[in-house]
Amino acid sequence: MRFTAIAFAVSTVACLLPSPVLATSSCFQACEALEAELPGKVSHPNSTQYAASNTYWSRRQSEVLPACFLLPRTTEDVSTALRILTAHNAPFNVKAGGHSTFPSASNIQDGVTVDLSRMNEVSLAQDRASVSVGAGARWSDISRVLDPLRLAVVGGRVNEVGVAGLTLGGGISYLSGRHGWACDNVRNYRVVLASGEAVDANPDENRDLYHAFRGGGGASFGLVTRFDLDVFQQGDIWLHNAIFPGAVNASVVDAFAHLVRDGLATDPDAHSFLVLTHVPQLGGFVILLYLYHLTQATRPAGSYPALYEAFPKLQGAIVNETIVANTSTHGDLLSEPGGIRKTWWDTTFSARDPALFHDLVARWETHALEMVALAEAHGAAVATPLMAMQPISTNIIEAMQKNGGNSLGLKVEDGPLVLVSTPMAWDVPDMDDIVEESTEALIRDMERTAGEKGLLHGFKYMNYAGPGQDVFESYGEESLARLRETAEKYDPEGHLDTLWRGYFQVR
Ligand SMILES: Cc1cc2nc3c(=O)[nH]c(=O)nc-3n(C[C@H](O)[C@H](O)[C@H](O)COP(=O)(O)OP(=O)(O)OC[C@H]3O[C@@H](n4cnc5c(N)ncnc54)[C@H](O)[C@@H]3O)c2cc1C
Ligand SMILES: *[C@@H]1O[C@H](CO)[C@@H](O)[C@H](O)[C@H]1NC(C)=O
Ligand SMILES: *[C@@H]1O[C@H](CO)[C@@H](O)[C@H](O)[C@H]1NC(C)=O
Ligand SMILES: *[C@@H]1O[C@H](CO)[C@@H](O)[C@H](O)[C@H]1NC(C)=O
Ligand SMILES: *[C@@H]1O[C@H](CO)[C@@H](O)[C@H](O)[C@H]1NC(C)=O
Repeated sequence: MRFTAIAFAVSTVACLLPSPVLATSSCFQACEALEAELPGKVSHPNSTQYAASNTYWSRRQSEVLPACFLLPRTTEDVSTALRILTAHNAPFNVKAGGHSTFPSASNIQDGVTVDLSRMNEVSLAQDRASVSVGAGARWSDISRVLDPLRLAVVGGRVNEVGVAGLTLGGGISYLSGRHGWACDNVRNYRVVLASGEAVDANPDENRDLYHAFRGGGGASFGLVTRFDLDVFQQGDIWLHNAIFPGAVNASVVDAFAHLVRDGLATDPDAHSFLVLTHVPQLGGFVILLYLYHLTQATRPAGSYPALYEAFPKLQGAIVNETIVANTSTHGDLLSEPGGIRKTWWDTTFSARDPALFHDLVARWETHALEMVALAEAHGAAVATPLMAMQPISTNIIEAMQKNGGNSLGLKVEDGPLVLVSTPMAWDVPDMDDIVEESTEALIRDMERTAGEKGLLHGFKYMNYAGPGQDVFESYGEESLARLRETAEKYDPEGHLDTLWRGYFQVR
């Protein structure tokens, strides 16, 4: 992987000219050229539209200031834009839902940021088997249309997150136990290549590009302008949600570890994850348990899916509730406010040995206390470390193999797996570097611990990866080689590689 944000931060603006003064003016020239060809679609600093476009979930991204934003409305606009940007050698980035965390992940200092928010149309096919979604849509744009019809896509779990970023990196969904990740349920990608040409990628046309978009991100291959997503029957989703004090972590973590190892693959309608965090108002460490089920809502109220039977027996929950609701409502319940500083890092372990889960929790708790102390020393008002454990059970990996499989490199025989991410929210810029360094060290420490026991898998999920993590290397040599070949084929001159900066790229 080549991670461009770090290099970019050091060398400040480029626009690929030697002098920084000229460089900025070249980016402004690109903005002017865009304005000339796409009038009314460019927003300049200090305009209301610029401020609206420069709103991101992570405050660190809003502090990045592009020379201008471009707001295309159509695939043709995007073609025109890519032709102009490459002709001007103008560095750019693309924003869909703006929910990536690190600075310049979907924004670019002094470059051009393409804001897709005006391309958010959602159109259900007449046969109701698929839905066409503009690349600037959020998940709630889809559930608003599908919920009343008792239909759903394999999509994100939180309303305001972008369809494009989530789907291009993989996409963990309520429906994943049955259908794999979001990227495995895209019928067609409409995409503008580096040349400005618009093409389709699906199981019949441009198959290599279709395979690449299933987990390979956008920046190496092209700008997706529309996703055609499979649609499934889906009534209300059942959720059992409980909050436990950290002191009972042994029993809760154990029940969860056994669920991941032995339970989930027995019931593809089940979906679950566990989150640990630190909330001073609740006395310190707490554990949030989420047990979802796609069809339990059709069974008698008060009954419990068999695979979750260990959980009602757990003692000591602070909160304990069952919620039956549509996807829009669930997407609100999980919503997390933006506007503060965020990061996350991740890696993946074999879930064969429940003892490992306890080791990982103990290591995270030590790290979390360090982060809380650090925040206190910095006078921070917000310091929320988290650890999320998301199962990748074998049924999910099996479902990923349909239509030629995705590019994530996960093999059924490696499962069951558990994806561990360690996000953090804070509000003092002085803490940025040390939070990143400590979180990186935590992940390495967890990997070392698991490695000694032969339980390290090492898959890094792009959508929760920290800056500079070796996402594509973690897909395995075979997948990486294939992705590089595809990038080379569809962008032979390497325009995207040099100009589309800030996020994960295969070359
Ligand atoms: C509150 C919250 C909930 C989440 N829930 C889930 C979840 O349930 N499941 C899950 O898997 N992940 C989840 N995530 C992680 C999420 O998948 C990533 O944050 C993802 O990057 C968000 O996509 P976005 O479009 O909002 O991000 P953006 O920051 O807009 O984009 C991310 C990257 O994708 C690129 N990109 C965007 N649009 C395009 C395009 N059209 N063509 C090519 N490249 C493009 C951007 O350039 C950028 O580099 C969640 C994140 C948050 C903050
Ligand atoms: C935007 O406003 C700030 C503060 O008001 C000012 O310093 C800056 O020069 C303005 N930028 C542009 C491009 O007008
Ligand atoms: C989802 O359910 C809630 C609560 O019943 C309801 O108010 C809302 O209209 C539903 N949303 C959609 C999009 O159907
Ligand atoms: C979690 O459980 C372990 C083992 O029982 C215990 O040592 C630790 O203190 C617990 N964590 C918290 C926050 O109570
Ligand atoms: C939740 O509450 C129900 C009913 O009060 C109880 O039977 C169950 O054991 C509780 N579950 C947890 C996880 O606390």
